[in-house]
Amino acid sequence: MSAPKTYNIVVLPGDGVGPEVTHATKAVLSVIGDFYGHTFNFSEHLIGGAGIDAVGDPLPQETVDACLAADAVLLGAVGGPQWDGGKRRPEEGLLGLRKAMGLYANLRPLQVSPVLAHRSPLKKEIVEGVDLIVFRELTGGIYFGEKTRTPDRATDLCEYTVPEIERVARAAFQTAQQRRGKVTSVDKANVMETSRLWREVVSRVHREEFPRIELEHALVDSMAMHLIRKPREYDVILTENMFGDILSDEISVLGGSIGLLPSASLGSSGPGLFEPIHGSAPDIAGQDKANPVGTILSAALLLRHSLGLEDEAGSIEAAVAAVLSAGAVTADLGGTLGTRDAANAVIDGISAIHWAAAHRVQMHWA
Ligand code: NAD
Ligand code: IPM
Ligand code: MN
Repeated sequence: MSAPKTYNIVVLPGDGVGPEVTHATKAVLSVIGDFYGHTFNFSEHLIGGAGIDAVGDPLPQETVDACLAADAVLLGAVGGPQWDGGKRRPEEGLLGLRKAMGLYANLRPLQVSPVLAHRSPLKKEIVEGVDLIVFRELTGGIYFGEKTRTPDRATDLCEYTVPEIERVARAAFQTAQQRRGKVTSVDKANVMETSRLWREVVSRVHREEFPRIELEHALVDSMAMHLIRKPREYDVILTENMFGDILSDEISVLGGSIGLLPSASLGSSGPGLFEPIHGSAPDIAGQDKANPVGTILSAALLLRHSLGLEDEAGSIEAAVAAVLSAGAVTADLGGTLGTRDAANAVIDGISAIHWAAAHRVQMHWA
């Protein structure tokens, strides 16, 4: 167990359901702090539409400065229809922050809980036992290439460099070494030049540095089909920015709800950014309906990857597993709980785990 310490966590609630899920997650982290003797100092800053409304900027400089100085950053979501057509877009804030923090690898893990397999629109026997992780390249590709616009013409440039591909490929292969040893690299090498470079570089990094890992290449269109047909076959999925965005929302359906999926965005050094994969869910915002589990599991990834607190991360994950098994879930999973009560159920789960641990120690002493 790690020695008690003080950590500075920047929280960016953002828009829509973002404030609800981040506030619920702060409560969970505070309880973890109480149990393990850590102090988490939270400071909230503006991003997205909230930043546009308050100061006319989706990514105020003081938010960037606070994030770079923090131990880790927890984000809710950005965006919403009220900012469509405006001069600035909320999404610019998130993209700019990822770039400013150098977060090139976005990890999106999915394990399908046996108790929730029936919630997927796919057959239980297809989704049960799925355990995969997407490595999405996060600071390159069509998201960040030059954009042009005239009244009757628009372009988005898709660009990748060798070092950009190498670093995310290495991260994916390293993770595969700790898992089942298989990487599926997804591209569109039959059409796109960036994909042909992607495939070449991934193959070389594999050959030179990770020859023991099983590597397969897949084209993104058929991959979208295979993910629904045989998702259990995948271990680590490595792909570029846009394909990773799309495929990870598709994969979320295997687990029963997009509201369950966490993510970690990491660079080579410095704080990481942790956020659920879902968006601001404007249709349910402000109604205490959002599933907070994706954000709570993102906090577990924050504890593990940015703070090195493995036991603490594990106790959040164990509590979430217990809560899901008990059916204490929000409406997206067929339950009756609101955001607040779902988070309180996780807090009760953490308390129960700790009580059981303390009890075992006492019995041992007796
Ligand atoms: P969305 O993920 O916000 O919502 C898609 C559907 O999933 C909706 O029906 C929503 O109610 C549901 N959903 C999402 N999160 C949920 C949760 N926690 N609990 C229960 N149900 C949940 O995607 P969208 O509607 O396409 O996008 C809405 C806005 O969010 C857009 O402005 C988009 O740009 C933005 N967005 C932001 C992020 C981010 O901040 N990382 C990610 C995706 C989309
Ligand atoms: C995500 C979102 C973002 C993305 C948007 C909001 C910029 O969809 O985090 O998955 O496309 O990366
Ligand atoms: Mn997305």
